Amino acid sequence: MTPKDIHDLSADEWDELNDPRPEGNDFDQVVERAISRRGFLSGVLAFGSGAAVMGAGMLKGTTAMAQPASRFPFTPIAAQTDGTIHVPEGYSWKTLVRWGDPIFSDADGAYDSAAGVSGEFADRVMGENTDGMELFNVDGREILVVNSEYTNNKTNLPHREDGLPGSLDDVRILQHLQGVTVMELTQNADGWSVVVDSPYNRRIHHNTPMVFSGPAAGHDLLKTKADPTGMTSLGTFNNCGSGRTPWGTYLTCEENFNGYFGATSDVSADEMVMDGFKRYGVSTKVDSGRYNYHGFDARFDIATNPNEPHRAGYIVEIDPANPEMTPIKHTALGRFKHENAAYAIAADGHVVVYMGDDERGEFMYRWVSNDVYVPGEDTSRLLVDGTLSVAVFEDDMSGRWLPLTPSTTGMEAAHIAAFTRMAASKVGATTMDRPEWIAVHPNASEAYCCLTNNSRRGVLNDDGTVRTNAGGDPMTTNAVNPRETNRYGQIVRWRPEGGDHGADVFSWDLYVMAGNPTVHTEGPNAGSANINAGNLFNSPDGMQIDSTGFIWIQTDGDDDNEGDFAGMGNNQMLAGDPVTGRIERFLTGPNGCEVTGLTWSSDRRTMFVGIQHPGSNWPDGEGNLPRSAVITVARDDGDLIG
Ligand code: FEO
Ligand code: CA
Ligand code: CA
Repeated sequence: MTPKDIHDLSADEWDELNDPRPEGNDFDQVVERAISRRGFLSGVLAFGSGAAVMGAGMLKGTTAMAQPASRFPFTPIAAQTDGTIHVPEGYSWKTLVRWGDPIFSDADGAYDSAAGVSGEFADRVMGENTDGMELFNVDGREILVVNSEYTNNKTNLPHREDGLPGSLDDVRILQHLQGVTVMELTQNADGWSVVVDSPYNRRIHHNTPMVFSGPAAGHDLLKTKADPTGMTSLGTFNNCGSGRTPWGTYLTCEENFNGYFGATSDVSADEMVMDGFKRYGVSTKVDSGRYNYHGFDARFDIATNPNEPHRAGYIVEIDPANPEMTPIKHTALGRFKHENAAYAIAADGHVVVYMGDDERGEFMYRWVSNDVYVPGEDTSRLLVDGTLSVAVFEDDMSGRWLPLTPSTTGMEAAHIAAFTRMAASKVGATTMDRPEWIAVHPNASEAYCCLTNNSRRGVLNDDGTVRTNAGGDPMTTNAVNPRETNRYGQIVRWRPEGGDHGADVFSWDLYVMAGNPTVHTEGPNAGSANINAGNLFNSPDGMQIDSTGFIWIQTDGDDDNEGDFAGMGNNQMLAGDPVTGRIERFLTGPNGCEVTGLTWSSDRRTMFVGIQHPGSNWPDGEGNLPRSAVITVARDDGDLIG
């Protein structure tokens, strides 16, 4: 591994570095072993497990069915490796709002093209590293709510050579540039812009007061020196994917919260808490925190506040229509590295929320409310009282949801809520290849989950045992995660029994296995038949399905455009037809970026797309810092765009 400053590591890489599990071999040896293990079973047979589960018409080499006329409204674009954005002919894009742009007028000029955002105004501007977002129409006004997942510490602390906070002021800058930005938008002949000083505008960050709901609220595990009730909290962390509720609230999803905590001295806590640190990747090594919050803000020091990490890792509900609303951390929906939250309404009116836990070998979850949703009536218990379940994907392409209850897990309800991963391990859930976004089809009874990649799937330890997740659940290859050292990712689709998202069983297939048929002419790494030289991509991550049924797939993968990834270019956004399986490239991002976050204006004539951590000087150009930003994309003829 090339030496890399710890603060330049992705959350995934940082976890790898801190991982307490036994190391196997270095990467090359691991790959060699995986290949030789396939050995003479290679190619076709190894691919067989995946081939068996591909959706109709999606197998390489199968006789092509008569293809209906394409319903894609755009001409697909080629892969790109440059420093800007490309969209198809007849479409245009424009920057809407960048990290550091003011949402309140007192923060005008707070952003400096060399030094970033001044600390005084860090909570008055658009946050950094945009991720999940949703748009709400409130009394005719368009309100965009956007996550800011993490900070590039070196950029935000240019006076600290190592990017590590050296004072509480430094910590506050980073804390205030993450979280959520709520902002009103307006549209005129020049396009969309932020309504600076709108009464709806709001910044929610690492110090914003919140309350807990659900089984863990008020439990000893959530009590701290600052909050002896265990009922209130400050801040929401590592806000990755998003969701919305039918009653008009925003759901922000706390993902890699573990990285914010550190220890100033040796940590001692009871066995469950120590096991929890290990399972969730909270490092107990002295001074190992990724952000060095713990050096200056005591609540992040687990040596003195071991319960603070139990107060992060949840789904958090925010009302975009009420800037005074105290956000609610819903513990009933479980604590894990939440990617996004995709809702459906069950046949009988119960609220269903699908959620992924983005870590190698962790699980996929479903929430079903006890009460039914009745528009206009009280919705306050719909994310509080209900059943959390975890998914099992059988190799025969059936699946089922296993409820996590005291009787199924032997754990009390508060412990299931706070240590959900451990509860799910007890019932035998299927270890997955990093579940990222889930999307529910609006017009068909099916849902999709991006399984982005998994470098450890099927890899053996030195003693010949297969790699496990941090809970000891083996990451053996299986039908839904069929590839060893899965570097390209796949999208699983499931259809609940009877078309009812509240049903406890489902059938499933793989909508796509990404791959590279220009490099691998056969075998699983060639990908499924709906992958071709014209639509190469890896690591599907963000996903939304529009009102016409197109699946929009955003990538967060290797963009070096070499070797296994040759021809894939920069990270990108593609559209997929769920019926034919056909996938076409719609947008390419500037090099170095991840394309993440997608929503639409109420009239469906504008698409909002997030560009996270661009590597070039996008969008401000030469001599400027790169800036994460939300862009708008529209058709030049003003027609509908999803
Ligand atoms: Fe923040 Fe799993 O992506
Ligand atoms: Ca993601
Ligand atoms: Ca990702």
